[in-house]
Amino acid sequence: MAEMTRWAPDRVAFGGDWNPEQWPVEEWEAQVRALDQAKVNLARVGVFSWSLLQPGPDEWDFAWLDHAMALLHERRIDVVLATSTASPPPWFSRMHPESRVIDERGYRHEIGSRQNWCPSSPVFRQASLTLVRRLAERYVDHPALRMWHTNNELGCHNAECFCEHSATAFRVWLRDRYRTIARLNEAWGARFWSQSYASFDEVAPPAVSTTFSNPTHVLDWRRFCSDALLAQHVAEREVLRDVAPGIPVTTNFMIGTGNSVGRSDYFRWAASVDVVANDHYEVGWDSSEARLHEQRAWSADFTRGVAGGAPWFLMEHAPSGVNWQTVNRTRPPGELRRATMSYLARGADAACFFQLVQSTSGAEKYHSAIVPHAGTDSRAFREACALGEEVARLAEAIGSTVHADTAMLVDWESAWALQHPTMPSNGFEPFDIAKAAHRALTRAGATVDMRHPRDDLSSYRFVVVPGLYLCDDELGDRLEAMARKGARILVTCLSGIADATDRVRGGGYPGAFRRLLGVRGEAFAPLPAGRTVAAVSPEGAGLYQGRFWQEELTADAETEVLARWNDGAWAGQPALTRRSVGSGFAWYLPSIPDPDGFLALARSIRRGAEPSSAPDPFADLVATTDVEVVRRRTGGVEYVFALNHGDIDVTLPALEGRDILTGQSAASWKLRAGDVRVIRTSSS
Ligand code: GAL
Repeated sequence: MAEMTRWAPDRVAFGGDWNPEQWPVEEWEAQVRALDQAKVNLARVGVFSWSLLQPGPDEWDFAWLDHAMALLHERRIDVVLATSTASPPPWFSRMHPESRVIDERGYRHEIGSRQNWCPSSPVFRQASLTLVRRLAERYVDHPALRMWHTNNELGCHNAECFCEHSATAFRVWLRDRYRTIARLNEAWGARFWSQSYASFDEVAPPAVSTTFSNPTHVLDWRRFCSDALLAQHVAEREVLRDVAPGIPVTTNFMIGTGNSVGRSDYFRWAASVDVVANDHYEVGWDSSEARLHEQRAWSADFTRGVAGGAPWFLMEHAPSGVNWQTVNRTRPPGELRRATMSYLARGADAACFFQLVQSTSGAEKYHSAIVPHAGTDSRAFREACALGEEVARLAEAIGSTVHADTAMLVDWESAWALQHPTMPSNGFEPFDIAKAAHRALTRAGATVDMRHPRDDLSSYRFVVVPGLYLCDDELGDRLEAMARKGARILVTCLSGIADATDRVRGGGYPGAFRRLLGVRGEAFAPLPAGRTVAAVSPEGAGLYQGRFWQEELTADAETEVLARWNDGAWAGQPALTRRSVGSGFAWYLPSIPDPDGFLALARSIRRGAEPSSAPDPFADLVATTDVEVVRRRTGGVEYVFALNHGDIDVTLPALEGRDILTGQSAASWKLRAGDVRVIRTSSS
């Protein structure tokens, strides 16, 4: 395997998808001029161009791409060149119908949309790699080429394919994992419902069957599907590194859009790219922009965690409305700036859009762009130009990293296991607990890194384990050792229950964390949507309203019970516990609190987690307004990003420094409603 080549930018990448092939060539120059005017310095080109690059099995045409790249280069616009493998041309799919996706009901998907290829199809793999090699050989020395981009959102539409090629590849994957069929049977608990297999050849992908498929079978299938897509990326990357060593390679992840957990385990994928790149879109119509900002914070903090804290690349976000929700919301004036800045605040060194010029035909013609249908004489374009100017001023912050004191443990495998329809409750989405915790912590002033349970957590003073259903045995011990040294650990319901094979730990819930927490659950008692139960302190104060979940629970003698249920079947049983462990503490929360209750709890735990010498000056402001504050640091310098998503002006705590967007001093600074400031100060 060839060496990795890290992406080392000297300017904040600002740009996005440009699809010149959708336009008469006479219009390209004017488009590139407009992009230059908006300070666009990077264009992702060729994402869906296979049918033009290879119009027939033995025909190739690169002339149009040569021309597009030359135009970009003339204006110093860097190119992220996509490998164009995202969507094969119709001739290919017609010639090789077996390469098309078969869904769980056995239906082979028709030609006429996009990404209709099976991740395990040998003929697709071969044809796509031929294309990648041709592109790499042609553009290896092109002066505009800044980065390669394999495929596009791998698995967005083809995360699963149930064809014979997939079945064969799944069996190979299972053989690798288990070696013997006896081990597979053991891991899957296959004696249940007469499912014991005599050989790997009997195993098939878990397509639609009479009723529920075996949960571990489904979990392994998800793991396999993620690996199969990753293998396509790695295969493309290896060709690129072979032909064009020294040019970084990435692909766009899909972390944190909407409620979708996603089908790829990006913690596993992260090591395969030279910079972690992500696409994020806010979902839903919400009158309060603050809710949208929480969606962005969730995605950005998750992406940064996947990147191990390193700066990352925002490959796509929407200039305004998208085209794929029921009602697509247009950003009101000023929101674009705050949206883009919040990703940059949370560790991105690139702010790219889908798309730069709005299409006039095809399925995405009503998706927003930097240059909309109305042209450059438009509010959208003027806002983009102003944003381009400001983003350029952030160049000095490139490479700085976000200062996060709190870790939240998340894991795709655990989330996939929680999605099985035979769980005690399917009344909420797998990441809902983590999202509720993230929102509370963020409002409590914390900056949170989402980390994988196996990551090194030693730099965090506060670790949250939100509904981490499936985990290794050793995690409880590791967290206990951290608590002994002073860390604060908050574990919520549905954590530690099962091992990596989804086998439940005996002896009481929450299995892996029972000793750490000093509690024992005997039964789950999920609550229906809309039902709440009050948790009250021993003094009778209401602490929170429990939602979605309760447990029949007892606390060990030395564990403090900080709240009990006020009424209902479990009245009097623990609703919040705390065990003192060395110089730290471990809390157990057997429910999901309402937002205000969760905020109060997060604030009280966080206050104790802060070193007493450095109380957070922004905590009250963030908890009581729609202001977002994030710090990026490098050397002794700190950049304080402050964004006001609300409609009330606020005064911020005095800082010594200057706003790098305006040059103004920050000695006494106001943050007007809707405004953004980035203060350069020294880090304490
Ligand atoms: C992404 C995709 C882009 C575009 C965009 C629209 O999922 O990568 O090609 O379709 O969505 O929001």
